[in-house]
Amino acid sequence: MDATNRQLRVLGIAGSLRRESYNRRLLAAAAELAPETMRIDPFDLSAIPLYNGDLDNDEARPEPVRALKDAITAADAVLFVTPEYNHTVPGVLQNAIDWASRPGGKSPLAGKPVGMMGASPGAIGSARAQQQLKIVLFSTLSHLMPHAGIVVYMAGEKFDAYGKLTFEPTRKFITAYLQQLDAWTRRMSAPPVS
Ligand code: FNR
Repeated sequence: MDATNRQLRVLGIAGSLRRESYNRRLLAAAAELAPETMRIDPFDLSAIPLYNGDLDNDEARPEPVRALKDAITAADAVLFVTPEYNHTVPGVLQNAIDWASRPGGKSPLAGKPVGMMGASPGAIGSARAQQQLKIVLFSTLSHLMPHAGIVVYMAGEKFDAYGKLTFEPTRKFITAYLQQLDAWTRRMSAPPVS
């Protein structure tokens, strides 16, 4: 690896706190399937408190929120893995993005290359939540990679009893997606041509 294909650091954020979460497992599969030029580190949202504007300043910001914002800043890209709750993004994930989105326009998410995927046991596979997440990421001025989407539907049939993603077509799709995210991140991070 040289300077042009140095290993990218991607922060993986799954919007579920459940130990046996399909979306956490999907993120683990992405970390496993990432190209060798990319490393995906998961960030656990369990300790992120509910957003409170009174605490959203440098003196009072809760430590887990500082850690989240620092991790996003340090990462080359962020990979969101969202469940679908009531046809939208779960509060756990929306809340984390709300903290990370301030100050508006200059937050760690502004200009950050971003990918997304999601899983659900149902037939829609989080597609509606991902549509909503696109709107949220438009607001944060993040550079979401254009893509038809990774929608892992009927998730119960795609992971084995140990939580490993075993459904080969989905593994292939994710592998290709992460290669595209690698290229997208490098393109978005490249210095402007003068
Ligand atoms: C759900 N679930 C769900 N699934 C779906 O496909 N569309 C939906 O609108 C909803 N709505 C919804 C609301 C609430 C409050 C819960 C708890 C669940 C089911 C959801 O996809 C399922 O519980 C997943 O397993 C959640 O993701 P994790 O925790 O497995 O990652």
